[in-house]
Amino acid sequence: MPISSVPPLSVDLSGILLDAQQGLARQLYQALRERILDGRLQRRTRLPASRDLASLLGISRNTVTRAFDQLYAEGYIEGRIGAGTYVAELNATARPSAPSTAQTSGKPQSASLQLLQAHHLNPPLSGPPRAFRVGVPAFDLFPFETWARLSARFWRKPSPARLGYGDPAGDWQLRELIAAYLRNSRGLHCDPAQIVVTSGAQQAISLCAQLLVTPGDRVAVENPGYRAAGHALAVAGAQLCGVAVDADGLDTAALAQVEGCRLVYLTPSHQYPTGVTLSLARRLELLEWAERNDGLIIEDDYDGEYRYSGTPLAPLAALDRQGRVLYVGTFCKIAFPALRLGYLVLPPALAEAFAQRRAVDMRHSEIGTQAVMAEFIAAGHFQRHIRRMRAAARSRRDALLAGWPADVPGCAPLPVVEAGFHLCVRVYSLPRERQLIAAAERVGVELNGLSSYWLPDSATPEDARAGLVLGFAAVPEAQIALAVDALRSAWNL
Ligand SMILES: Cc1ncc(COP(=O)(O)O)c(C=O)c1O
Repeated sequence: MPISSVPPLSVDLSGILLDAQQGLARQLYQALRERILDGRLQRRTRLPASRDLASLLGISRNTVTRAFDQLYAEGYIEGRIGAGTYVAELNATARPSAPSTAQTSGKPQSASLQLLQAHHLNPPLSGPPRAFRVGVPAFDLFPFETWARLSARFWRKPSPARLGYGDPAGDWQLRELIAAYLRNSRGLHCDPAQIVVTSGAQQAISLCAQLLVTPGDRVAVENPGYRAAGHALAVAGAQLCGVAVDADGLDTAALAQVEGCRLVYLTPSHQYPTGVTLSLARRLELLEWAERNDGLIIEDDYDGEYRYSGTPLAPLAALDRQGRVLYVGTFCKIAFPALRLGYLVLPPALAEAFAQRRAVDMRHSEIGTQAVMAEFIAAGHFQRHIRRMRAAARSRRDALLAGWPADVPGCAPLPVVEAGFHLCVRVYSLPRERQLIAAAERVGVELNGLSSYWLPDSATPEDARAGLVLGFAAVPEAQIALAVDALRSAWNL
């Protein structure tokens, strides 16, 4: 019977037609799975109670339960006792070969569209920053007046030479300045011709995925790690292989065990999200691994500007003598995320192909932001701003460390934080992680669960994946103090 003939549900399940001559539970399971995979039923959508769905569809509750059981078993839905049944987070284990809208709409569906549906990515939280949002720098301190002045000056009398179609790799002046910046700040010597300007680090990673991954390739990623990079690689057809991270960063011995893998993505200077730094010994082992396997390394240096003590270790790209490292940098963590400006430093042999891909995609990045950033760097504002941002992040880190309750039951002490603008603290069990986050949410404090940074099929026991990830730069010290007070009362400390 068509579902449209019964009272409406809060969730749209229209179009489900069950043939009484066939297995009803199987049909219902397939109809729901299809809707989950193609996004009509979005993650965390609450499904109707089995009793309600049964009466709506005119079938027995037992049939609905059987369909739900199958969806549970395959990880498409999840439920908490007394809290209902929800669509689960779709993840890398979801089969791209699962039924698609092609079967219901009759439209052909491309493999890449299916991959995209199977690896649905939740966008980062938007809106005004709150304590303790992850990935957001102290952009309240950005010198907008200076930026506005430089921007007005550029647009008042733009050089005609910069207004036609430009170089797909990006504005030459900006690339020269990026090369000089990396030489001075990271000891990374490169030619501006090796640089391709992108719309932030995410697009740089995505370009790597598009150009370096052949569907079915095994690609190593840190586990836990930056899931949006994993998604970009998976959407290009990669089979993700999670590699453990310990106190020295990515476990290179474990990487060496991943058979048939020739590409690895990692965050060596400040591992996301654990915060550890890849040791020098591991850096050298990683470069040897790449040489031995004719492999490539994507080095994501998303927050390399934030280091509070000691000198940073040389990036892999600075140690690389074989053209095996693709270095990803971004302005979004030092200016503000919405700027969408980043870059890749490529081995010389790959630079042309990446520029061509940019040309095919969008010709090149918009000139205004590139030209104004070039001016911002050339006039010394960028270096000044980096110093300001580093000092602000350090002071906000100190506010968090000073205010954090000494003994949160079930939670390890806060770690020493030498770099970056987030920290990661272990929690002893997954239920405790959820409890702490839910209580924080009730008082308006944002905490991320470390458990959400793991690949879904991780061998690590569930409780060992638990923790809290806190961004400490997003709001000023006074707001941090208020948030910590709110946590104390939410957690009854
Ligand atoms: C590890 C890591 N890499 C890359 C990015 C993306 O940065 P962008 O805003 O430059 O795309 C983020 C953003 O949070 C990140 O955490």
